[in-house]
Amino acid sequence: MDYKILKKISEKDIRKKVEEIAHNISEEYKDTEPVLIGVLNGSFIFIADLIRKISIPTKVDFIRLASYGPNSISSGNIKLTKDIELLLRGKPVIIVEDIIDTGLTLSYLIKHIKKKSPESIRVCTLINKFGLRQNKIGIDYQGFEIEEGFLVGYGLDYSEKYRHLPYILSLEIQTN
Ligand code: PRP
Repeated sequence: MDYKILKKISEKDIRKKVEEIAHNISEEYKDTEPVLIGVLNGSFIFIADLIRKISIPTKVDFIRLASYGPNSISSGNIKLTKDIELLLRGKPVIIVEDIIDTGLTLSYLIKHIKKKSPESIRVCTLINKFGLRQNKIGIDYQGFEIEEGFLVGYGLDYSEKYRHLPYILSLEIQTN
């Protein structure tokens, strides 16, 4: 792909944000054992770093949802391909996302998790990309806020590439 790098979020900046969020979660959930639900695939790096910085006991599980397919724009057509396996009844749940964009995945996920009767549901995302938001959703913990842009790295992909980068790049994709 041809692209221009518009912005970079460095490893150091990501680390600082992860530590900040982990600190807040550790304080706000002390004396409890929250269940962190990572949304695959994108959140695998963020949740791995986050959980190691949280200083209270936690449980972790994953759900796999996909909406984008091979394109860079959300299809809104969400597919659940792997469900949560831990019992969530009566438990405090924190959804951990790499990015919230239109918000369609998250609203699907919240409805899905509510059916499992958790005690509470909070939302944590590394990136809050708000420019194309299609619904009102509350985000309890966020790392970075951006209006628009196509991001790759630190779990985020373009056609399954670039997830391994330790930093995040905002790209302008050139089509010709
Ligand atoms: C990304 C991301 C979120 C979702 C957010 O997942 O991880 O789950 O898109 O977009 P939305 O707010 O517009 O619904 P994606 O479907 O690209 O799958 P991936 O995590 O495997 O990359």
